[in-house]
Amino acid sequence: MALRRILSDKNPALHKVCKPVVDFDAKLHKLLDDMHETLLDSGGVGLAAPQVGILRRVVLVDNGEKVLELINPTIIATDGQQEGPEGCLSVPGKYGLVKRPYYAKVRAQDRNGNWFETDGEELTARCFCHELDHLEGIIYTKVMERLLTDEELAEYCE
Ligand code: NI
Repeated sequence: MALRRILSDKNPALHKVCKPVVDFDAKLHKLLDDMHETLLDSGGVGLAAPQVGILRRVVLVDNGEKVLELINPTIIATDGQQEGPEGCLSVPGKYGLVKRPYYAKVRAQDRNGNWFETDGEELTARCFCHELDHLEGIIYTKVMERLLTDEELAEYCE
């Protein structure tokens, strides 16, 4: 495993639509293993392949129990709404106020190509939406209501 460099939102790779994964091979497994290590090192809860410069539909989401590997994921159901602070490893030091569904269910393939479904609420649902947006070249700063001030962020963290 190796750490990969996380690109900033100034990099054009973060603004492109990613291609589906078709080969569930050793190269994909290496990418996933490297992304695991990079996510762990970053202290974040999610990471999308374009953030490490790979324009493929691959994301990792830490749901609090484990790190999910989601290949070619789509959101197949949502419910409710939440509004809260959201950040991104590619936009260091900033947080925005973003509306997301309270609940989201995702269908995806695992590293061997098998389809499965997973779901989550609150932060996990937010993370599913945020990471899947990355695959469309969308960074949260494009869908947020506004950036949060340091004072507002401190209140959310209380
Ligand atoms: Ni992000």
